[in-house]
Amino acid sequence: MSEEHGNLIKTPKQLIIVSVVALVVPIGIAFLGAQLVTGNKRVDPAESKQSVEDRIRPVGQLTKLDGAAPPPAPVAAVAAAPAKPKSGEEVYQLACTACHGAGIAGAPKTGDKGAWAARVAQGVNVLYDHAIKGFKTMPAKGGQSQLSDDEVKAAVDYQVAKVK
Ligand code: HEC
Repeated sequence: MSEEHGNLIKTPKQLIIVSVVALVVPIGIAFLGAQLVTGNKRVDPAESKQSVEDRIRPVGQLTKLDGAAPPPAPVAAVAAAPAKPKSGEEVYQLACTACHGAGIAGAPKTGDKGAWAARVAQGVNVLYDHAIKGFKTMPAKGGQSQLSDDEVKAAVDYQVAKVK
């Protein structure tokens, strides 16, 4: 019974081959596994910026519903919110017409000179300030906090122009 049982490695050369294989094969498997997990996840930076903006967009917006005719919900305009500044009319349609279009909740109705005369007489800077920061039941920026101050001012200019 001098036979060595089942030892496959009989020469130094075989030992080296076995050692190398034992080292390389697990590394290869780990590499392929990592490729499988991360391989297809590369995103176009432009696309990812858009998707981040989609995810951080405010979920809801303030729309007061009084009486029979609900104001048109400005949802579509929000969904398309581009980076470039909006015109006064665009901002108005997006954020202000819900209340000012029909004169809801005591909001001075757009185009109603009587409702606006005393307000306009305060001077446009007061109106800007009240529209940007809020005033009594008028919410700051009409509740659309993503609007810039200049966009809100443009919407005030649009409203003021309607009662001149
Ligand atoms: C949720 C309803 C609502 C929305 C939306 C809204 N307003 Fe108003 N706004 C009001 C009410 C109510 C008042 C009257 C407040 C008062 O005098 O009691 C008012 C008043 C104003 C005034 C007059 C402030 C003053 O000093 O007399 C301006 C200017 C104005 N809003 C601009 C805007 C602009 C611009 C937007 C859109 C960006 C907007 N509002 C969106 C409800 C709203």
